Amino acid sequence: MKQKYIFIGPPGSGKGTQTKMLSKDFNLPHIDTGSLLRDAVASGSEEGKLANSFMEKGQLVPIDVVSRIIKNRLLKDDAKEGFILDGYPRSMEQAYALDEILKEIDSDRNIEPIVFYFDVAEEKLVERLVNRRSCSECGAIYNLKTMTLENENICPKCGGKLTKREDDTEEVAIKRFRTYFNETAPLIDLYTKRGQLVKLDASLDINTIYKNLTGAIKEYVRS
Ligand code: AP5
Ligand code: MG
Repeated sequence: MKQKYIFIGPPGSGKGTQTKMLSKDFNLPHIDTGSLLRDAVASGSEEGKLANSFMEKGQLVPIDVVSRIIKNRLLKDDAKEGFILDGYPRSMEQAYALDEILKEIDSDRNIEPIVFYFDVAEEKLVERLVNRRSCSECGAIYNLKTMTLENENICPKCGGKLTKREDDTEEVAIKRFRTYFNETAPLIDLYTKRGQLVKLDASLDINTIYKNLTGAIKEYVRS
């Protein structure tokens, strides 16, 4: 695995929006623990039911569930050249678990992942979350406030149905922010000390952030 990218940032900071674009352009798998867990919930499995009991409260799903999902996903053929991790790790415990997983399965261990931290003030984010709609077919993400859609229920890219996530209410969003600050924010320090962190201003518009992101990757690779 030569190209390894990790994305951390508060709920609604644009991790999904940017990583989907990067995945397409860099031909790397987009591994989004939130979506993988929502798939488990939709399947009605016992694991999905357990995950849902945490997700609906804005809390982290237990580490054994998440570690298993991540390891199985990283072992798939399409992750041989690298990966894009969106929303994982999101606690110190998960960061150390990822170190162990990579020690075990990654033959390019000398190449450390680049960790992008999306910096944006919380005040901007609740509005983004409550106005988010996602396509149930192609996964495209929209913001009803900043994007004009001909029909707010239909995906303009593929014609699929647009849905609102169950955790995109103001009440659950506030709990998700609390979890982020308590459990995920300490990773900024960890990866800064390891020399792996790149901070990006995620309050800018989508295309400018993407330009800065891909520019930072080129810069990092050169240095
Ligand atoms: P997850 O699905 O990962 O949710 P999250 O971290 O809260 O992040 P979001 O997906 O809400 O936001 P995003 O940063 O991807 O923003 P997006 O691009 O969509 O996790 C959900 C739950 O699963 C967790 O609460 C937890 O319970 C569980 N879970 C997940 N991972 C776990 C793990 N590792 N361990 C344990 N549990 C885990 O954009 C948001 C909106 O803003 C959209 O409408 C978009 O169009 C808009 N937007 C994006 N960029 C911009 C911009 N630059 N300007 C204006 N609008 C923008
Ligand atoms: Mg997301």
